[in-house]
Amino acid sequence: MSDRYVKAVNSGFTATLAKRLGLPRPAVLRRFTPGEPLLRGPVLVLTAGDETSRSDADALASTFLDWQLDVRRSWGAEEGKVSAVVVVLTGLTHPGDLHDPVLGLGGVLRQLAPNGRVVVLGTAPAAGDEPAVAAARQGVDGFVRSLAKELRAGATGNAVLLTGGASVTGGSALAAVRFFLSTRSAFVAGQLLTVGSGRAGSAAKGADGAGTGGAGFASAGADGGQPGDAASTELDAAYWDAPLAGRVAVVTGAARGIGAAIARTLHRDGAQIIAIDVPAAGDALAKVANELGGTALQLDITAPDAGERIVAHARERYGRLDVVVHNAGVTRDKLLANMREDQWDLTLNVNIAAQLRINEALLAACIFRDSPRIVSLASTSGIAGNRGQTNYAASKGGVIGMVRATTPLLAEHGGTANAVAPGFIETDMTARIPFATREVARRLNSLQQGGQPVDVAEAIAFLASPAAGDVSGQVLRVCGQNLVGA
Ligand code: NAI
Repeated sequence: MSDRYVKAVNSGFTATLAKRLGLPRPAVLRRFTPGEPLLRGPVLVLTAGDETSRSDADALASTFLDWQLDVRRSWGAEEGKVSAVVVVLTGLTHPGDLHDPVLGLGGVLRQLAPNGRVVVLGTAPAAGDEPAVAAARQGVDGFVRSLAKELRAGATGNAVLLTGGASVTGGSALAAVRFFLSTRSAFVAGQLLTVGSGRAGSAAKGADGAGTGGAGFASAGADGGQPGDAASTELDAAYWDAPLAGRVAVVTGAARGIGAAIARTLHRDGAQIIAIDVPAAGDALAKVANELGGTALQLDITAPDAGERIVAHARERYGRLDVVVHNAGVTRDKLLANMREDQWDLTLNVNIAAQLRINEALLAACIFRDSPRIVSLASTSGIAGNRGQTNYAASKGGVIGMVRATTPLLAEHGGTANAVAPGFIETDMTARIPFATREVARRLNSLQQGGQPVDVAEAIAFLASPAAGDVSGQVLRVCGQNLVGA
């Protein structure tokens, strides 16, 4: 689905007209193409003055050099455009500590290139924080969300928050920083992602300890580090090129829309794909599966034996299953006063009850052995609520609860469960929204446009990757910082 308005306000006479009339002028977002460099220009690393932040900034800067980035520690107005600014605030002990790094960032924002990135590294608030420490850490939250609303020209601001002793150079922290820096996160803005410690190192290790998590994802066990110590993992160029190499992924609702984009993106990242959809969508499903050299499984996910059929298919065709993306979903919008029983039941059955049943069957079948990943589609409606969507929001809120509670069940396999909550995405589903409502819904976010299915798919590919083993039980919004619920 295309948004003609974005094209119109970025070219020729209509661009000039929109400027004169003071109309919103959403930028054309740059999206990932394989082989492109992580950044097209310099990355500036700023830091708070405390020792922790400074040493974390040094460690990050050195990793960025390993990634072949043009790393700077200061920037002058005469030096032109900077592609990204990374601000390290991991050791704050008082809100006053924000002064220097934040105003330093403010001083370079005018030099941020179109589609630029600001990534803040912080520490997640924790029970037992002293009041001043808690104030500083929570202050970062408000700061990042506001900053993201001020950025223009397709630039985004997001944060990675460390918790439980996670290291800034641990596998998951680096994977998250990379995701936010790259064009893969084009429609992710104003988000704070929490990264724990301890699982990413083991995430690459198979049941036999052989490390089957994809090319180049090396656990430290071999050189004497502690397996499971995220800080001691090494992620090389081959890993970043194909993080899902050797992995088998199920995608439900893969015949079209976001599901088809997820299947394509996971395949691009190296995974073998089992594409699932209802028999009525069989032709479209076969097309997607064939295009990707995967297999199609015609299946209504609400069937009582859906989980068992997925297990049987994965075992028979691939002998393993690593990633499950619960994407299939429906809407049956009605005000509650007008809601029929079948509309309520169908929405709850497809969007949440089927996922619960399938997860139970997968766990009971013990098919997971090597850092499994479950990623479910939630929605900003499930967070903020939406008039006419009591059934849909209940189901999507349910998804968020489900992934949180599923996290410990997967932890023993080095696994994770997370949700991605899209905002307005250009698909068949949203094309059916009446024009005026659709036009308003599209613009109500910091990037002033709808996202593309691939934007959701990129976030899922990141959460499905072996390196994201220390990100679990979370909801990552792909909504351009939707003004509602973001
Ligand atoms: P879509 O309607 O274009 O595609 C959904 C797919 O799921 C279809 O191919 C459909 O046949 C399949 N499906 C439906 N019921 C099924 C069942 N019982 N068994 C197997 N497959 C089934 O939807 P879209 O827009 O691609 O959405 C995908 C997911 O993203 C859904 O979970 C949706 O709730 C969620 N989402 C979408 C947003 C958007 O703006 N499009 C916003 C927020 C969340």
